[in-house]
Amino acid sequence: MMSGIKGNKCAIVIRRLILWVILTNIILVLYCLTNSSQGKNRGSQQSTCALSVAELLKKNVSMPSESTKSQGCSPKVNIMFMKTHKTASSTILNILFRFGEKHKLKFALPNGRNDFFYPSPFLCSQVKDYRLGDCFNIVCNHMRFDHREVAKLLPPDAAYITILRDPVALFESSFHYYHRAVPLTWRIDGENKLAEFLNNPQSFYSADAFNSFYLRNMLFFDFGLDNNLEADDPRVMRDIRNLSKRFDLVLFAEYFEESLVLLKDTLCWTTEDILYFKLNARRSSSVSHLTPELRARALQWNGADWRLYQHFNATFWARVETYGKDRMKQEVNELRRRNSEMRDICIEDGGAVEAHKIQDARFLPWQPVGESSILGYNIRKNIDPNFRKICEKMLTPEIQYLSDLGVNLWLTRLWGWLKDAVFIV
Ligand SMILES: *[C@@H]1O[C@H](CO)[C@@H](O)[C@H](O)[C@H]1NC(C)=O
Ligand SMILES: *[C@@H]1O[C@H](CO)[C@@H](O)[C@H](O)[C@H]1NC(C)=O
Ligand SMILES: *[C@@H]1O[C@H](CO)[C@@H](O)[C@H](O)[C@H]1NC(C)=O
Repeated sequence: MMSGIKGNKCAIVIRRLILWVILTNIILVLYCLTNSSQGKNRGSQQSTCALSVAELLKKNVSMPSESTKSQGCSPKVNIMFMKTHKTASSTILNILFRFGEKHKLKFALPNGRNDFFYPSPFLCSQVKDYRLGDCFNIVCNHMRFDHREVAKLLPPDAAYITILRDPVALFESSFHYYHRAVPLTWRIDGENKLAEFLNNPQSFYSADAFNSFYLRNMLFFDFGLDNNLEADDPRVMRDIRNLSKRFDLVLFAEYFEESLVLLKDTLCWTTEDILYFKLNARRSSSVSHLTPELRARALQWNGADWRLYQHFNATFWARVETYGKDRMKQEVNELRRRNSEMRDICIEDGGAVEAHKIQDARFLPWQPVGESSILGYNIRKNIDPNFRKICEKMLTPEIQYLSDLGVNLWLTRLWGWLKDAVFIV
């Protein structure tokens, strides 16, 4: 009887697996077909944005300038946001989208899907409608970072920003969110797959396996680095120092409000620019909590990310010190007050709800393969018309916002449709 059930289950898994592999391949082929028609850039004298800018300056053409605020700084509009995975980065994306729309900035957007062909390394030819020498204001979608490629798109004064999250929480989140996309995890038995894995990662993990990067040092991977380095490898600290030269500001999911205040300060923005609702959050019941022992194992397993996190954590708090601790406290309180005001204005029942309770598909966030664990919001029914626009924008999830910005997300949509067809939620 038991083995019958097991055999049955096994057959279902295998059938799904085969279907999955076929579908993944179809998608890849389709993508390559569409992608090969791009990237052939028409001839142009300037091959990068920086050269185009230099050329314009030589000709005494002044760049469009920004209005200077009374504090003596002008809002920075050229921004590279390295969107890491599972780090509250979707909330930052919404902030950037709104800022970009408000100031009519030019986004370097992906094409056909919501990322730059992740996990392949970023290439500027992946940008929608890209031509050599084009300049953009904001790059902010998921990519595997490659500084030299990104730099081609942006004026030299662009601010580089990213966000980190405690590597254990990130690992846990990634493990649950992506487990159906990572075949390595499929053969882990037991109630608590995560614990099984952490008790002996080497017996399950293989660096060459499909999508294995979701299971180890995911931050390192996103930054375009080798995610299989051991923590004590000298290349780890060298890479981290390298990154700290690149990035002007590193935010933290754990200190989200403080991070936004530093962002506002660094970019010379206003508090209004950084108002937000938490987007793309998992329901808390689907986040397990590790014992101290398992946490230690997870840290060891993700040792390179842990070093990265600690390094920038120290820089972050040194920066808060410079900014002024009291001033920070006041700003955070102000931000909380304004956010809660917006919550009352915009959100029905005051908070996030489960996906099946979201009435308007415009506000329904993308769900992971085979489940529906990402929360979203209902917009207030009797909303003040003066606030409708801003509320809608603040509540719009990434995929829908990208559509609004003009990205045709046919690949993402096809993918979404297929995953729901294979794994009926
Ligand atoms: C650019 O402007 C400077 C003065 O601002 C002038 O000396 C120079 O000749 C100008 N160059 C061109 C190419 O017009
Ligand atoms: C960053 O690391 C690479 C090696 O991966 C090295 O060649 C390069 O010079 C470093 N860049 C900086 C700015 O240190
Ligand atoms: C980050 O820095 C703060 C302030 O120095 C410290 O209290 C905290 O323990 C650090 N976190 C980690 C994970 O190192």
